Amino acid sequence: MAHIPVLLEAVLEALKPSAGCLFLDATFGGGGHTRALLEAAQGVTVVALDEDPEAQERSEALKPFYGERFQFYSMNFEELETLQEGPFDGILFDLGVSSFQLDTPQRGFSFRFSGALDMRMNPHAGMSVATFLKTARREALEEAIRDFGEEPQWKRVVRGLLEAREKTPIQDTLKLAALVCEILRCQPHPGRTHPATRTFQGLRIAVNRELEVLHRALPQALEKLKPGGILAVISFHSLEDRIVKRAFKRFAGLPEHRGDGIPMQERLPGLGRVWKDVAPTTQECERNPRSRSARLRIFQKN
Ligand SMILES: C[S@@+](CC[C@H](N)C(=O)[O-])C[C@H]1O[C@@H](n2cnc3c(N)ncnc32)[C@H](O)[C@@H]1O
Repeated sequence: MAHIPVLLEAVLEALKPSAGCLFLDATFGGGGHTRALLEAAQGVTVVALDEDPEAQERSEALKPFYGERFQFYSMNFEELETLQEGPFDGILFDLGVSSFQLDTPQRGFSFRFSGALDMRMNPHAGMSVATFLKTARREALEEAIRDFGEEPQWKRVVRGLLEAREKTPIQDTLKLAALVCEILRCQPHPGRTHPATRTFQGLRIAVNRELEVLHRALPQALEKLKPGGILAVISFHSLEDRIVKRAFKRFAGLPEHRGDGIPMQERLPGLGRVWKDVAPTTQECERNPRSRSARLRIFQKN
């Protein structure tokens, strides 16, 4: 159930916490990174955000230890520009879902347990996956399964979901997983990726608007950094990582990718520099399998 913070040493090395530093942890989760920053030196202050109400409950446990050095806000990081606090010496995003969310059947993130198909980071906002599957137009389903899930057989999956919902609502994690296996005529095998993995990922990204909020949040984070401040982002799949990589290049005044077509005069002036990115070591992957697909990208503001 515990959530082991990913790439912790690399994050601390990048953010260099020392007395008087002010950090923003935009994805508090179980507070692993926040706690490590607060413990790294006396006089470090951390402002933390999370849109999951259960993260807010977990944040209460830190307050008696750190008092005014720790502040928590229950909010989506796409609104981080509205924070009174800042500018910050460093801002961290550790994207995706926490082990708490994955391991709680009622949250509906995992096909390992039976649970209502929800998958919202904040169950009080937006629409659950069950509602999305019931109401989404074909185009929205295609975007979720093809673009966000990167499911090679998206046409079959979308057709199968549309047919299935005519007969009965799709409301349960195990039922959705079994349905996708049936549509793809493929059974799960131990040691292999479950056939429904991509569909689950796509639906989760869709209902949480994960790529859109990340895209909106990164320039706000840059604005909220002090000169010399560090923006550190850990992502867990190539879609997120591409957004981060391109945003950092854009901030540095570089082409986002080869042939991006942006004329020199329309590029941002270099606002900082892109550091090398960091992947977990083999030892970390063995210790914490969740870190396997993690990638940390670091940007330093001028
Ligand atoms: C991978 S966990 C973070 C784990 C944390 N670093 C730790 O060490 O415990 C990601 C967290 O970010 C939160 N989250 C994801 N997207 C968010 C968003 N747009 N706004 C606020 N919180 C978000 C999730 O609710 C989840 O708790």
